[in-house]
Amino acid sequence: MKVGIVGSGLVGSTAAYAMVMRGVGREIVLVDMNAARAEAEAADIRHAVPFAHAHEVRAGGYADLAGCLAVVLCAGVGQKPGETRLSLLQRNAAVFAEVVPAVLAAAPDAVLVVATNPVDVMTHLAARAAAAAGVPAGRVLGSGTTLDTARFRSLLGGHCGVDPHHVHGYVIGEHGDSEVLTWSLVTVGGMPLEAFAQLRGVDLSEPLRCEIDSQVRRAAYTIISGKGATYYGVGSALARVVEAVIHDQRSILTVCTPAAEVAGVADVTVSLPRLVGRAGVAETFPLPLTPDEHARLQASAAVIRQALDELGS
Ligand code: 2OP
Repeated sequence: MKVGIVGSGLVGSTAAYAMVMRGVGREIVLVDMNAARAEAEAADIRHAVPFAHAHEVRAGGYADLAGCLAVVLCAGVGQKPGETRLSLLQRNAAVFAEVVPAVLAAAPDAVLVVATNPVDVMTHLAARAAAAAGVPAGRVLGSGTTLDTARFRSLLGGHCGVDPHHVHGYVIGEHGDSEVLTWSLVTVGGMPLEAFAQLRGVDLSEPLRCEIDSQVRRAAYTIISGKGATYYGVGSALARVVEAVIHDQRSILTVCTPAAEVAGVADVTVSLPRLVGRAGVAETFPLPLTPDEHARLQASAAVIRQALDELGS
């Protein structure tokens, strides 16, 4: 039950910490071009082990990724206040050109879980490189909108006065400005959201929906302007995705992976609800979207396709 994390800055190290707290796997290897940073993060997290789950946490090089069931890719730069995720593309594509072949050489059988932004495009690039090396489709996936889905559920749960675990609803499309909140599919405790809201006298007016939409869509901008980076949310999302993979949980998560077609857009990588287990993505589920949601998913997929076209991918 060994997991690798490449890039042990705030996101990678928080993902490792979340895995220790959650009891995901038994061994974590942190790899970073700043070896001293990786050593320091590994030591700090190791000191949390006696308060959490049994885990071996250490720093290492690419060769130490051998035998990993999953490798999380967090290497690259993050957004500065005001920057979009897509503006990171050129810089992080250059980082991935070095990192992905090195990871594939060391851990050819691992599921790759991409976190680096813009995560949809980076996952597409990593998956293409992996496919060229003979890695089966589905073995490369990105954290995608798992975090946005959690933000949506958390806000709706708070608004409805219900534990977010009992709020089901998905954010799909780009992990970014064009993402789509699928309001029409939300259920709370097995009831359609509208019926639940009526029963409990909960406001679901258009202004309220716009406010929740904006808080989900703008969350990263708000947090980054307040503290410079986001890492607890995404670190927890990564721990959850890795858990589904290495424990073969067959969980339905809004991860991204290349698809032949999404809402009429060919050869693109965006998030949809997908079945995730030991082999990575086992299946993608079609959603009964409203015409408006479908149009917005198409527009979102087109944003990613255009970014890929500009890269020549
Ligand atoms: C987030 O949404 C920045 O993608 C990161 O928190």
